[in-house]
Amino acid sequence: MDLIYATIVNEWQEALKNKKHPFRYFTLATVGFNSTPRLRTVVLRAIDKDLNMMIYTDRRSKKVTHITENTKVSMLFFNVEKQLQVTVKGRASLIKDPMVIKRMWESLPQASKSEYTAEQMPGTEISDPSVIEYLKHDHFFGAVQLYPERIEYLRLGSPRHVRVEFRKNNGSWEGTYIVP
Ligand SMILES: Cc1cc2nc3c(=O)[nH]c(=O)nc-3n(C[C@H](O)[C@H](O)[C@H](O)COP(=O)(O)O)c2cc1C
Repeated sequence: MDLIYATIVNEWQEALKNKKHPFRYFTLATVGFNSTPRLRTVVLRAIDKDLNMMIYTDRRSKKVTHITENTKVSMLFFNVEKQLQVTVKGRASLIKDPMVIKRMWESLPQASKSEYTAEQMPGTEISDPSVIEYLKHDHFFGAVQLYPERIEYLRLGSPRHVRVEFRKNNGSWEGTYIVP
């Protein structure tokens, strides 16, 4: 069980270092008020010792609206070569501290900054991608912290598939095998 836990953590740490690692991009699911679940691909930007994760986004995006309405989220990580799926259930919150946001913004590579400076709101209808205007002196950069509460590991293989559920108990993760 400890080995499986260490494997998952290692996959996430590798994803931060290696841009081609399959766990670098994951699917984040949110739900708003009375709304259909919404899925999208995001980039894993940071993970701490409690497995809290960070993503960057445009703070006007729908995912931010959703997590403001309902903090519950799910995440899906998939490595096709290893036939490994890790799903996470947890909570999300937008980072509010302007100093923290300022520090993150300043550390972003210049080339990435335009992702957070479109004048038009994400989701706005436009006639052509070339009509988007980018602000020079303002931005909509936001960071979302994800707090895992359940982690599920599933590895397909022979002689058997292995599925484990980890739950957070008094700050530490406890795993149980479950039927795949
Ligand atoms: C490869 C890839 C990586 C992406 N990474 C991010 C990301 O890190 N943060 C983000 O907000 N959107 C990212 N997106 C865009 C989202 O998938 C999504 O289209 C966008 O954020 C709007 O989502 P929303 O309207 O549900 O909030 C990425 C898209 C792709 C294709």
